Amino acid sequence: MDALEVKGAVKQFREGGNVIKALDNVSMKIREGEIVGLLGPNGAGKTTLISATCGLLELDSGEIKVFGKDALAQKEEVSGEINLITGFAGLLQGLSVENLLRYYAMLYNVREKETAIENVLAMTGLAGKRKQVAVTLSSGYKQRFYIAKALLSGPRLLLMDEPTVGLDVKSAMKIRMLVKKLRDDGKTILLTTHYMQRPNSSATG
Ligand SMILES: Nc1ncnc2c1ncn2[C@@H]1O[C@H](COP(=O)(O)OP(=O)(O)OP(=O)(O)O)[C@@H](O)[C@H]1O
Ligand SMILES: [Mg+2]
Repeated sequence: MDALEVKGAVKQFREGGNVIKALDNVSMKIREGEIVGLLGPNGAGKTTLISATCGLLELDSGEIKVFGKDALAQKEEVSGEINLITGFAGLLQGLSVENLLRYYAMLYNVREKETAIENVLAMTGLAGKRKQVAVTLSSGYKQRFYIAKALLSGPRLLLMDEPTVGLDVKSAMKIRMLVKKLRDDGKTILLTTHYMQRPNSSATG
């Protein structure tokens, strides 16, 4: 089954007298178990497409289906299949990594919370940082935290908006390795990026 199907997506924004065409008849498909990167310059419409996929904004026309369900009309069902990693999730002041994950596990209504938390800590390589206050994590580990938090809800499709932006070469590489590990674990991943180097090159993005 397709994890994601975008058909003829159109979205315009009005800014003063100007009309900005953020999505101009975009169509794409992602099969379950794939990693797909949206590559494009600033303003290309990447975040707009991701927001529409999460049901955060309404298209002018076209449709988006997540595992066969309409991203907008069936938003509730879709939200159980999907999670978004933007790097802007709250890192409540003073809470440790594990306590913050407990907090999010409650919000997501996760069953078997402690088991789920152990699993996501292990998956993201955060177990050694569990006692650290989350806001004091380095950027690379903060990114892992956002991924761990998203995994708690048990999504089949992960949306990542620029997961390696602002990271040093090594941290960015580790996040890309983690993305592959998530795919090997059965997740489907749509990410946006400005990263254009070949996999064995050393630049960051
Ligand atoms: N809420 C909004 N109101 C007005 N214009 C918007 C809105 N959201 C996005 N836009 C415009 O739509 C276009 C696409 O924006 P979008 O954020 O999707 O691009 P992007 O590919 O994510 O860019 P970046 O690489 O900078 O994150 C831009 O011209 C942007 O200014
Ligand atoms: Mg963007």
